[in-house]
Amino acid sequence: MDVYIENLKKQFNKRILFELRDMEFKSGRINVLMGRNGIGKSTLFNIIAGLDEDYEGSIAYDGEALSKEKMQDITLVSQKPYILNRSVYENLAYPLRLRKYSKREIEEKVEFYIEKLQLKELRDQNGRSLSGGEMQRVSLGRALIFSPKLLLLDEYTASIDERSLGFMEEIVLEYKETGANIIMITHSKEQAERLGDSLVYMKEGL
Ligand SMILES: Nc1ncnc2c1ncn2[C@@H]1O[C@H](COP(=O)(O)OP(=O)(O)O)[C@@H](O)[C@H]1O
Ligand SMILES: [Mg+2]
Repeated sequence: MDVYIENLKKQFNKRILFELRDMEFKSGRINVLMGRNGIGKSTLFNIIAGLDEDYEGSIAYDGEALSKEKMQDITLVSQKPYILNRSVYENLAYPLRLRKYSKREIEEKVEFYIEKLQLKELRDQNGRSLSGGEMQRVSLGRALIFSPKLLLLDEYTASIDERSLGFMEEIVLEYKETGANIIMITHSKEQAERLGDSLVYMKEGL
């Protein structure tokens, strides 16, 4: 799902956080978004994901306005993972239950991501009792499991140790092959170079 932003202005109370003339994120790519702390990257993600409607300007999704149907194909892996008060298994199954996948499909897909994200030992543990890095792994699985067409990753490996970084990056590279639009916020130049197909900097006065 292509995203095209035009004249997007965001303010909190009277303070203008950013004004973006235009910005384009194309499908089938990993689009990296960088910029200093507090510039408004996470705020921009909330707006793109349709979670914050308090802005001026326009965002087109495949050339159209956001709709309920389109929102079903968008997901945000937020900087502070939001984990449900249920088992790891149920956290992964949740988006599929919402979308009325069959029992068999749910089992298959959840098992697939439990394996891929090395969550076997944690499958029955409550998601809220996980470490930060474990939560980020669950969060990524829960996002990919329903095959979104627009995937917003907000510093999705910030708490990930070196041992797990490789597979966390590999999974996203593989996912790109589905043709989805992946937009990724990172502070790591190395990660941007390893994964990015395009790079956008957010800066003052843009
Ligand atoms: N709900 C809010 N009310 C007021 N200010 C906010 C709110 N949310 C974020 N901000 C401010 O907006 C700025 C940008 O935040 P954020 O989008 O999280 O930046 P980044 O992700 O680039 O580090 C920060 O100065 C932050 O304090
Ligand atoms: Mg942020």
